[in-house]
Amino acid sequence: MNLLKATSLSHTFDYPLFHNIALELDAQESMAIIGVSGSGKSTLMHILSSMLIPNEGSVELFGRNIYDLSEKELVQLRRYDLGLIYQSHYLFKGFSGYENLEVAALMANQTIDNTLLVSLGIDTVCHQKVTELSGGQQQRVSIARVLSKKPRLIFADEPTGNLDHTTAQEVMNIFFDYLKKQDAGMILVTHDEALALQCDYVYQMHDGVLTKVK
Ligand SMILES: Nc1ncnc2c1ncn2[C@@H]1O[C@H](COP(=O)(O)OP(=O)(O)O)[C@@H](O)[C@H]1O
Ligand SMILES: [Mg+2]
Repeated sequence: MNLLKATSLSHTFDYPLFHNIALELDAQESMAIIGVSGSGKSTLMHILSSMLIPNEGSVELFGRNIYDLSEKELVQLRRYDLGLIYQSHYLFKGFSGYENLEVAALMANQTIDNTLLVSLGIDTVCHQKVTELSGGQQQRVSIARVLSKKPRLIFADEPTGNLDHTTAQEVMNIFFDYLKKQDAGMILVTHDEALALQCDYVYQMHDGVLTKVK
């Protein structure tokens, strides 16, 4: 099943950032986007995940052009179907890790999967306040929070940037298992080429052009 189809995407801020980008992703597939800092990777992710409207081009998610959706349909799509993971994690700081997970699960009518917490190594620490957790633990809570929603499409922008190599690999394995189990897809931005190459497809952003390298 086709999860994402982007056609002829172009975007300009102060100067043209990229043009004529086309991408497609099916269920159970993963795609990595690499490229130097400032090349437009995050901007492309914002466009693909419906958070930013491009100057040109269209984005279809789950077979529907997102610019044809009502505001309400778009909110539903983001709430139930999309999982957005950023390097800075936007957890609620006054809450415990677990309370953050509860809020996300409640909003998406899902329950928290304890085996996920165990596999992320946060099942015991997540009852502490977010501010008491290390950066890596906070990042893993934010990953658990997104996966607890059971999204059909994950957008992960440098999700393992704060993690040591072993933990980063464990998180990647959790993502790949998740895609199989939930029939979901993932688009990943990473600086780590070894991790990128584990995805089904790899694209490189360079001088405004996105080129397929795997
Ligand atoms: N909201 C914005 N307004 C103006 N310029 C922006 C905005 N977001 C990003 N940019 C510019 O676009 C360029 C690409 O940014 P970004 O997409 O974050 O790149 P990357 O994620 O590859 O590091 C940068 O030069 C950045 O300053
Ligand atoms: Mg970025």
